[in-house]
Order: sequence, then C-alpha cells, then structure tokens
Amino acid sequence: MTTPDPWNAVLVAREDLGPRLAVFRVRPDTGAVADFEPGQFVQIGLPMDASTPLQGPGAARPGRVRMHKRSYSIASAPVSRAEVELYVARVDSGRFTPILWAMRPGDRLWLDPEPKGFFTLARVPAERDLVLVATGTGLAPYVSMLRHHAGSERWRRAVVIHGVRRPDELGYRAELAARAARDPHFAYVPVVSRPEPADAWKGLTGRVQVALEPDRLRALGVELDPARTHVFLCGNPEMIRDVRALLEPLGYRPDALETPGSLHFEKYW
Ligand SMILES: Cc1cc2nc3c(=O)[nH]c(=O)nc-3n(C[C@H](O)[C@H](O)[C@H](O)COP(=O)(O)OP(=O)(O)OC[C@H]3O[C@@H](n4cnc5c(N)ncnc54)[C@H](O)[C@@H]3O)c2cc1C
Ligand SMILES: NC(=O)c1ccc[n+]([C@@H]2O[C@H](COP(=O)([O-])OP(=O)(O)OC[C@H]3O[C@@H](n4cnc5c(N)ncnc54)[C@H](OP(=O)(O)O)[C@@H]3O)[C@@H](O)[C@H]2O)c1
Repeated sequence: MTTPDPWNAVLVAREDLGPRLAVFRVRPDTGAVADFEPGQFVQIGLPMDASTPLQGPGAARPGRVRMHKRSYSIASAPVSRAEVELYVARVDSGRFTPILWAMRPGDRLWLDPEPKGFFTLARVPAERDLVLVATGTGLAPYVSMLRHHAGSERWRRAVVIHGVRRPDELGYRAELAARAARDPHFAYVPVVSRPEPADAWKGLTGRVQVALEPDRLRALGVELDPARTHVFLCGNPEMIRDVRALLEPLGYRPDALETPGSLHFEKYW
C-alpha cells in the first residue's frame, strides 16, 4: 500500500549571494502556484531532521516525518507562477534555515498551496506615492510588486529604501538600480550600516531612518504625508517599531480592515 508523499514541490534552483543569503526557486508538482498578490508569502516545509530522506520510503509517511514550516515572502511576480522565488537569510542559530541551506536542486520539500497575507497594494488607491522600506531580506515583497507593475501606472512615485549591514548584502541591487535608471517614477536608496573601508561604500551610511529625512525624500519627489504617501515596512521588528515611532507623529496610522491607514508592515520575527 502506498501512502501520500508529504513533499509536493521541488527545489529547482538556488543562487547563493554569499555565505548567508540565497535566492531559492521552488516549483509545485501541480505545475502552477495558486494566484497571489505581490507582497504575499508562502510557507515551506522541510523535515525537522536533516538526515530524514527527502525521497523514498522514509519520507513517504506524513505521520512519521516531523515537518518544520516557515513563512517566506514571494519575490517573483504572479505572471510567472510555474515557480516561486524566495530570498532567504541563513540564521546560523536557527532551526530551519541551516536545513534549507543543505538543500540542492532536485530535493523535495513542502510548499503551502495557498499564498497568504495582507502586506499588499490591494488597499492602496492609485496615484499615491509609495515609500517601501526594508531591512535585509524584507526586500522580497517589493521585488514582487515592482516586477508585477512593470510600468508606473500603479503609483505616482515609488522609492525603495533597503538597509543592510554590508554592501554585499544588497540583494537585487543590479535589478533595482537598472530600473531606477530607466524609470523616472522609481528611486532606489540602499543604506549600509556597517561598511568596512575595503567596501569603498559611497552611498548612504547608517540605518534606513537616514533615507527618511524629509529633505532627502523631497529631493526624490516624495513627502511623508499620509494623505499622499503610503509607507510599507518589512523585516526586522525593531526597525518597524522605530520607524513607526517616527511616522506616527506625522499622522501615519496602521492600515486595518475597519480603519484604513497609510502605514503597512510585515514583521519577519
Ligand atoms: C510573514 C513572514 C514572511 C517572511 N519572509 C521571509 C523572507 O522572505 N526571507 C527570510 O529570510 N525570512 C523571512 N521570514 C522569516 C522566516 O519565516 C524564518 O523565521 C527565518 O528564515 C528564520 O528561521 P529559522 O528557523 O532558521 O530561525 P529561528 O530558529 O526561527 O530563529 C529566529 C531568529 O532568527 C532571526 N531571523 C529570522 N528571520 C530573519 C531574517 N529574514 N533575516 C535575519 N534574521 C532573521 C531573528 O533573530 C529571529 O529571532 C518571514 C517571516 C514571516 C512571519
Ligand atoms: N549581516 C551579517 O553580516 C551577519 C553575519 C552573521 C550573522 N548575522 C546574524 O544574523 C541576524 C540578522 O542579521 P541581518 O544583518 O540579516 O539583519 P538585521 O540585524 O535585521 O540587520 C539588517 C539591517 O537592519 C538594521 N537595523 C537593525 N535594527 C534597526 C532599527 N531598529 N532601525 C533601523 N534599522 C535597523 C541593521 O543596522 P545595524 O547594523 O545598525 O544594526 C542593518 O542595517 C543577526 O542575529 C546577526 O547576528 C548577521
């Protein structure tokens, strides 16, 4: 008698951007990821024990395979639904990501068939400005939004502010810089908090807050005015707490089902 295989997807590709950052592409066996809104996330599941075989009889009994699940924002756009692209940081002390890092193309895993989440543009009216703030891999949902809306008609201006420790952690830098060079409605502001002299970093130094200074935003054509500009915050919860504290005195309120607001956030932990 055969039992159902809990693994319903395959890792088709991984691109390591360094020792602790990678882009993973996961393809569901059904051939298509369910439709999703840019900004949503999926869960993936892996066996809790790295020695559990991912294929064959040991992996074939859901009751005996103890699965770990974690959530990841989708970086790909809904137009390319054969696979999902995920941008992931390895947490050395973590329970999940060290097992994910051992995976190679062809390995099997579980992919939640239903993408989820409310960190999307669904409740942002057209003709607004967007300030999209990320730390680390919190950039992923914005990559999906930008890829999906290839032109500028979904917003008036969009600014991505990406905070990382070192310049080599600026994932998607080439893609975002190329878009900024050709799209007058888009600006990309990388911010590095711990550059080393060898990095020869010439951009903004510090935390994302330096890029939110009113004069700097004004120079990019954007005002921190909740009537005109929606702000999205994604990644480190301390960044979200601190940037909220900066924005709330300006009249920003979190967007909620009953009480629409211009502030949206997604905490990764
Ligand atoms: C809605 C949602 C979407 C998410 N999307 C992403 C994503 O697109 N990419 C991604 O890398 N992670 C994302 N995460 C975090 C992810 O789900 C895991 O928590 C993360 O991969 C760590 O898992 P772990 O078991 O290895 O570490 P855990 O044992 O769960 O350790 C958690 C600790 O690791 C650190 N940590 C967790 N996530 C990150 C991170 N992304 N970058 C740096 N440090 C981190 C924090 O200190 C946290 O306390 C998301 C979380 C949520 C809730
Ligand atoms: N990045 C690495 O090189 C590295 C290497 C090994 C291990 N780790 C571990 O991995 C974990 C996550 O590291 P990470 O670099 O991916 O994510 P992170 O700690 O969230 O840092 C990403 C960016 O967010 C900034 N940040 C932190 N708190 C903030 C706040 N309150 N407001 C605004 N910005 C804020 C950081 O600035 P600051 O630099 O000023 O904090 C950094 O620029 C940590 O536990 C770390 O010890 C990281």
